[in-house]
Parts: sequence; structure tokens; C-alpha cells
Amino acid sequence: MSNLVFYRKYRPKTFKEVIGQEHIIQTLKNALISGRISHAYLFCGPRGAGKTSLARLLAKAVNCEKNIQNTKYKILNTNFEPCNQCLSCQEINQGKAMDLIEIDAASNRGIDEIRDLRDGISFMPTRSKYKVFILDEAHQLSKDAANALLKTLEEPPGHAIFILATTEPQKMILTIVSRCQRFDFRRLKPKEINDKLKRILENEKIKFEEEAIQLISQTANGSIRDAETLLDQTISFSGPERTLEKETVEKILGIVDKKIIFQFLDYIFQKQTPKAIAFLEEIVFKGVDFQEFAKSLIQYLREILLLKISPEFEISLLLDKEEKEKLEKLATDLSEEEIKNFLKKFIEAENRIKFASIPQLPLELAIIEM
Ligand SMILES: Nc1ncnc2c1ncn2[C@@H]1O[C@H](COP(=O)(O)OP(=O)(O)OP(=O)(O)O)[C@@H](O)[C@H]1O
Ligand SMILES: [Mg+2]
Ligand SMILES: [Zn+2]
Repeated sequence: MSNLVFYRKYRPKTFKEVIGQEHIIQTLKNALISGRISHAYLFCGPRGAGKTSLARLLAKAVNCEKNIQNTKYKILNTNFEPCNQCLSCQEINQGKAMDLIEIDAASNRGIDEIRDLRDGISFMPTRSKYKVFILDEAHQLSKDAANALLKTLEEPPGHAIFILATTEPQKMILTIVSRCQRFDFRRLKPKEINDKLKRILENEKIKFEEEAIQLISQTANGSIRDAETLLDQTISFSGPERTLEKETVEKILGIVDKKIIFQFLDYIFQKQTPKAIAFLEEIVFKGVDFQEFAKSLIQYLREILLLKISPEFEISLLLDKEEKEKLEKLATDLSEEEIKNFLKKFIEAENRIKFASIPQLPLELAIIEM
């Protein structure tokens, strides 16, 4: 167990462990309680936000022997969590349940696979109450395959439950979408991701800097899986003491040191052109990625511009008090025109870096022009 990667080791095993997506869980639980389970679900939403996890949880809950018994003896169960102890739950957790069929439509796009599936459906479940089919990346099915699937969704046998998962529902044929009960997953907030990462680290007894996990949570773009993977990488990079440091995260993400950005901003705002250019030359040898450098510069300039427009604007970069004051001072000292001008020039430069044979040249030109 301990050498599993985090995103697998910490996959939610109960509804309670799922972060966010409350609206979906509530509706699913209501369906379980009232026994009105749909035979086709469509789980849409951004990557790494819980689609596959919830699909497996639903499969577990409908086939959990404890839940089935409770229902049979009319024991009121408003919880409907899978027990994770009965044979059915255990087999699903270990990925060897016969009655849970997971198909990745990205690699099984064709009509033959769907025909096989269609033929398989008519067979009763081996041991469980329901046969559950999870079709991942459902938008990738070929047209023929999608049509074959449609036939099945029109008249599914009572023992079958389909869960289609996709990050791109707009690419699916409407006739399929309209036959499914649709749930839209939402991106997770940095705070929600942060809390889960903290729990993982505490459980793994790994020391960490608060700012390190903040940085990971903010970079993950709403995907807990991406955050967990980045956490994994950072830890294996951290060596034997296994203390998670912000600096390591920055290195892995290729984030440019704040000191470099501030120094560079000073040079350009004080119009010290030769110094700014010499500075660029210097950081080439430090191995700074210019694409990342330009990206960071733009992020900082944007914050300065927004501060200029409204002093109440809350700075979204991870900065300490002194650095925040510095940004605020720049916003006061410079004119809106100046900031906009810098920003535009650097955006142009950023676009050109990709194709430049001398990576620092577009930035040098921007500095000289300004
Ligand atoms: N809502 C969530 N609550 C807790 N953990 C989550 C949540 N969403 C994702 N995770 C974590 O991320 C991992 C991957 O999640 P999952 O496979 O459910 O994502 P997905 O939405 O199916 O993504 P994809 O579209 O890439 O298939 C899980 O094993 C879990 O560790
Ligand atoms: Mg998935
Ligand atoms: Zn169970």
C-alpha cells in the first residue's frame, strides 16, 4: 500500500471522503435511498475532479452486500455508504470485480468493442445485483460505436448501469446525452485541494512548508489528481529527509525566483537599459527558462496594473508583506499608460520567444523599445 502513488492511495473510498461535488453526491444518495437508480449517467467535468472516483463509489454502493441486506430488511439507511468490507466492496477496491467493467473509450473507440459490450450486457451479473459499466473519455467513441451504444442505452436491461465520463461533453452526440442523467462536476478550489494535501502529508508523516502546498494547490488548476501527482514528484525530489519545501516545488514547476523578477522590474522601471540587458545575459547562464520568465513578468505586471486601477485589489501571487508593499509602491509610482505599455510589449515578446533562435532577443528588443 505504501508505495502506491498518492492519487491512487488516496482515492476516496466513501462518499464522505469526496471533496466538493456535494450536489452530485446528494442526488445520488437520494436515488439510492428511494431505489430509483437511473440506468445511464453522464459525469462531465474537468480532469482529476472525481468522475471516475464517484463512478466506482456508485458501483460499490449499489452492489454493497450490507446495503442490499439493509434494504431487504427495510432497515432505514440514509447514509448508503459502501461498507468497504464485504466481498463485493473489496473486489471493487482491488480492481478485480467481475461485475464492474471499465472501458477506456480513448483506446477502445471502435464498433467492435461496443458490440462486444452490447452482447455482454444481456448476461446477468456474476454475483452482484448490478452490472456496472464505466465508459471513460466517452466523447472519444467513433460515430459508429456511439450509435451502437445508443441502441443499448435505449433499452438497457434492468441489471445494467452505465456511467459515461467525459471532460468534453460538447463533443458527444446529443441523442446519447439526452438518454443519460447528467451531472456536471466542478473544478476544486485551491483551499479544498490544500486541505486534502495537508491530510495526506500528515498521514505520511512528512514535514512541509505551508507555502509549498499552497503553491501546489494554486498551480493544480482545480484538479486534485494533478496536485497529488505534483506532490509525489516533489517528495521524491526532496531526498531522504523528505521535507517538502517551497523551493523544490518552484524548481519542479520551473517557476522563476521572485528575487529575479523584482530585480528585473527595478531595472526596467528605472530605465536602466544596459543593466537590464546585462541582467538577462546573466540569468541565461543560471538556466532560467525565458518562456517562464516572460510569463512571470506578465503575471507581476498584471497585478501592478490591477492594483493601479483599484488599490483594494487583492494580490493573488504568493508574496510576503515586503514584496506586496513593493508591488503597491510600483503601482503608485507608475502611470497606468506606462504599465499597460510594458505589459503589451512583454506579451508580444512572450509570443516570440518560442520561435526565436536567440531566446533572450525578444525581451532585449522589448526593453530597448520601452
Ligand atoms: N472530489 C475529489 N475528492 C477527493 N479526491 C479527489 C477528488 N477528485 C479527484 N480526487 C483525487 O484524484 C484522483 C483522480 O480522480 P478521478 O480519477 O476521480 O478523476 P477524474 O475526474 O475521473 O479525472 P479524468 O477526467 O482525468 O479521468 C483520485 O484518486 C483522488 O485521489
Ligand atoms: Mg477518470
Ligand atoms: Zn460492502
